[in-house]
Amino acid sequence: MIAPLLLQSKVMKEAGNHVTTVLGARSQEFLMMEEEANRYSDKVYIATDNGSKGYTGVGFLNELLKKEKFDHCVVMGPVVLMKDVSEITKPFGIPTIVTTTPIMIDGMGMCGVCRVTVGGKMLFGCVDGPEFDGHQVDFDELIMRQRTMLPEERLSSVLADMHGGCKCGRNKA
Ligand code: FES
Repeated sequence: MIAPLLLQSKVMKEAGNHVTTVLGARSQEFLMMEEEANRYSDKVYIATDNGSKGYTGVGFLNELLKKEKFDHCVVMGPVVLMKDVSEITKPFGIPTIVTTTPIMIDGMGMCGVCRVTVGGKMLFGCVDGPEFDGHQVDFDELIMRQRTMLPEERLSSVLADMHGGCKCGRNKA
């Protein structure tokens, strides 16, 4: 979710903040919008899951947070990434906002499918979020809930590939 993250970087920069952006992707070919990241940030770090560009994974953030002071962190991306980054920022006491992506149906607070447990309370991603305090989100439950429809998503991906459709590769693991 690089595009919406950069929108936040842009707004924060325009408000006079010192902005550091970490762009991540599965591998180099999935990285995008580096130019925009440089435009809207004072510093940019790159990380890829396979190390094809920049740091490998998000482990480097531990060292970065020891060296530099951050007042606020915003994380967008896969739930596992949001969980990992929140676990890294928590001991440093850095307020961390995550943009959860629960499965949604009506988007109006009626069906309850987007439930996210935050600080022990059940909230709805569609009307209470989707941004929540990353140090309070029950990520393990969220991951389990997101996997509810995985077989159907994989089937849909296969069918889309057969018809020359979606090439995101999200469900090919
Ligand atoms: S999507 Fe139905 S309650 Fe949130």
